[in-house]
Formats: sequence, C-alpha cells, structure tokens
Amino acid sequence: MNVNPATAPRVITVDGPAGSGKGTLARRLARHLGYAHLDTGKLYRAVGLGTLRSGGDPAAPADAVTAAKALDPGAIAGGSLEDPELTGDRAASAASKVAAIPEVREVLLSFQRDFAANPPGDAAGAVLDGRDTGTVVCPDAGAKFYVTARVEERADRRHKELLGRGETSIYARVLADMKERDVRDSTRAVAPLKPADDARTIDTSDLDADAVFAVALEHIASLS
Ligand code: C5P
Repeated sequence: MNVNPATAPRVITVDGPAGSGKGTLARRLARHLGYAHLDTGKLYRAVGLGTLRSGGDPAAPADAVTAAKALDPGAIAGGSLEDPELTGDRAASAASKVAAIPEVREVLLSFQRDFAANPPGDAAGAVLDGRDTGTVVCPDAGAKFYVTARVEERADRRHKELLGRGETSIYARVLADMKERDVRDSTRAVAPLKPADDARTIDTSDLDADAVFAVALEHIASLS
C-alpha cells in the first residue's frame, strides 16, 4: 500500500483501551513513515509513579498536580519515559487515577500539542497514541484511529506478556484490573475514552499485528 509522503497526514492519532494493540500500531506507523512517536500513556504513568515515589496519593489533586508540574520536557526528550517501572501495573493503576484529574490533563496537554506541532528530531510528522489524542489533544489530526478488542482478549494478551517477562500473573486478576481501568477511563468527566467522530475503528480481537497495520496503512493511503 503506497502512502504519498508529500500528501500524507502530518499528525496521526491512535486511541483505544489497554491491550488493544494501539501502541504496536502507533510505533509501526511512525517507523514506516519516519515520524516521531509519543506514547501519551507514559506521561500519565510518569505522573502516577512520580506521585507515589514522593509519598503522595495519585487520587489527590494537589499531589498529582505537583508531580505533573515536575515533569521535565528536556528529560522526557532525553529518554526518561524509558524507565522500566513505568510499564508495570502499579504505574498503570496510578496513571488512571491521576488521569481523572482535570488540572493534570491540562498540564500534559501543552506538552502533547507541542510534540505534535514540532516533532523532535526534525521528523516530518508525529504519531500519538493514548485515550484522547484524537478527541482532545489533536482534534485536527489528519488521520485518526480507534483501536479496540474484546476485554477478555486484551486481558489475555496482557497476562501472556507478563508471563513472558517472567512475572507472576493470574488471568482473573488481570481481567478484573483491566475492567476496572476501562470503567475509570471511559466514565470520567474529562476526556473520557471514546472514539473521535472521524476516527477509523479497528477491532483487533481476531487480527494479528500485520493485518492491523495493513488496514491502517490502507486508510492513510486513502486520505493522502
Ligand atoms: O496507555 P496506558 O495503559 O499506558 O495508559 C495508562 C493510563 O493513562 C490509562 O489507563 C489512562 O487512564 C491514562 N491515559 C489517559 N489519556 C491518554 C493516555 C493515557 O487518560 N491520552
């Protein structure tokens, strides 16, 4: 599938719930197009973990906002989001708590918009993935995707990923945590998880990563 680099959308958003495969798709699109990639969930994870590390409560606005303001864009550009603890479930759970606080979202908004408008490394464009990148962060993005899958399938992927990393995991527990996070993310008052009106939805329950990538590329080519 050919995407014309001259007319390809410069900003691409990929939203969806945990374990849907949105990160895999976003990374692959960015690599294919030579664009910069921002996993916006990592920003919320960094705020959640930062709050816990300073002894704060991720559900307490004052604690979470302090941690959000302490995020250093220079350090992020330098790779601070590669901290392995950010991928853990402690960070995930804290992230979904701080993410429900409007002031935290406000602090992170300008960083995300700036990344999309001025992608680092002189990249020609940016791919952002998260929960609200197509609805709130970049409503004018040239291509938007909403990637989803059955919750049992998403929990199974996460469970296998944890086992593959040598961590202990109980499927029923992973499923319960994921359902809890889905409810928190989709029912919160600010920027809830939902597809943008103009997003292309891809259900990955029965598709592998190659098939998802092919569907997405075809959609982008149809826009360029
Ligand atoms: O995608 P990931 O699982 O890393 O996201 C962690 C949490 O961060 C999500 O459960 C969600 O609460 C929050 N988040 C968000 N908006 C985004 C990205 C993530 O609220 N754009």
